[in-house]
Amino acid sequence: MTGASGFLGHYVLRDLLTRQRRVVAALRHPLARSARRLAYLLEQIGFDAAPCIASGQLTLVEGALPDHLPEPTWGHTDDVLHNAASLELFSNGNGDGDPFRTNVKGTRALIEWANAHGVKTIHAVSTAYTCGWNDGLIPEAFHSPAPRFQTDYERSKWLAESLFRDWSQQPESVLTIFRPSFLVGDSQTGYTTQFAGFYQFARLVSVLKNRYQDPHNGKLTHIPLRIPGRPEDVQNIVPVDFVARIITEVVLDSNRHGRIYHLTNPQPPTNELMKRCYEDYFGLHGGYFADPATVLGHCTSAESLLWDEYHLLTPRVVHAPHFDTANTRCVMDEVGLTFPILDRERICMLIDWAARQQWGRRSPARRRERETAS
Ligand SMILES: NC(=O)c1ccc[n+]([C@@H]2O[C@H](COP(=O)([O-])OP(=O)(O)OC[C@H]3O[C@@H](n4cnc5c(N)ncnc54)[C@H](OP(=O)(O)O)[C@@H]3O)[C@@H](O)[C@H]2O)c1
Repeated sequence: MTGASGFLGHYVLRDLLTRQRRVVAALRHPLARSARRLAYLLEQIGFDAAPCIASGQLTLVEGALPDHLPEPTWGHTDDVLHNAASLELFSNGNGDGDPFRTNVKGTRALIEWANAHGVKTIHAVSTAYTCGWNDGLIPEAFHSPAPRFQTDYERSKWLAESLFRDWSQQPESVLTIFRPSFLVGDSQTGYTTQFAGFYQFARLVSVLKNRYQDPHNGKLTHIPLRIPGRPEDVQNIVPVDFVARIITEVVLDSNRHGRIYHLTNPQPPTNELMKRCYEDYFGLHGGYFADPATVLGHCTSAESLLWDEYHLLTPRVVHAPHFDTANTRCVMDEVGLTFPILDRERICMLIDWAARQQWGRRSPARRRERETAS
């Protein structure tokens, strides 16, 4: 498994180990430090890795993409679960750097590694947005020809899928692809180790509130501002624990291999609901929806605070494709899993957890990282 020390990775690793799967996790240099961080992350979600390491159920080895994949000293590898990725949105003109280096060169190296070591089954974590700007119902199938993309990250993940698709043409090769939309925290606790996207915007709203609130004038702050987008459009966010559970159920059952799974929200919150959540949580009112073309580039100072920083993500606010999830629904039905609907209460819980961690500045994982570094 690659990427076990990431946000999604430590959830998937926990679920696989809980279900008695033997896992070899490749962690980046220095191994001792990565291993400590991983143990700490697992502890945060209620899992003690020490007995698994002691019994040999979990083996930690040093490895990095694309150049430092490990020698398989642990014996034969049945499946590769490739979850590692660079989440850099843009390469800033450096085609040799991330996200292409890890996501494309890294995938090529991993495929070579799998070929060299007789691995016939690969599970790869991609993204729902390999669909680029495509509209309509997005199928659980490869997108060909290449669509137009909003970011280099999307393009790099599409290129990685293509490399895997070519690999899967070899006899006996079985490829499974998981495509989550935007990950958010745990649907039960709100816990997250990632504070981008949804959280980045919530943080900006908190800055707006602090800037304009009048402590002598009640809890509600009136800030008239335009929101570029339509109230009925949706934001496809999906809790990390749901995504990890489906990945685990698929990896553990070979009958479910060989398909593409959209791990997306079947009932994504609308912009209108998100607006109400932010208003309720932060004590704000005065926002109203407007045509993005009339807002972006023509902002008041309050609007600038939100949209100037957020502009990279606004395309996704105005582009909300509908994802087919037939394959994922089959798994949910078989294992009796329902989707944790993101209603007002859950969204406010997610915001609250992140706000209490000061949007990542106080995150336990980061604190631990600083402690182990010093
Ligand atoms: N987050 C989202 O909203 C989202 C949405 C859709 C799809 N995904 C996909 O889900 C997967 C997991 O993402 P995540 O959100 O959990 O990301 P994350 O928290 O940033 O974790 C990324 C993981 O990949 C590892 N990694 C990065 N570059 C590497 C390299 N060059 N060599 C070896 N390992 C490397 C990281 O190791 P270190 O711990 O050492 O940094 C970490 O374990 C990715 O494939 C991503 O594309 C994520």
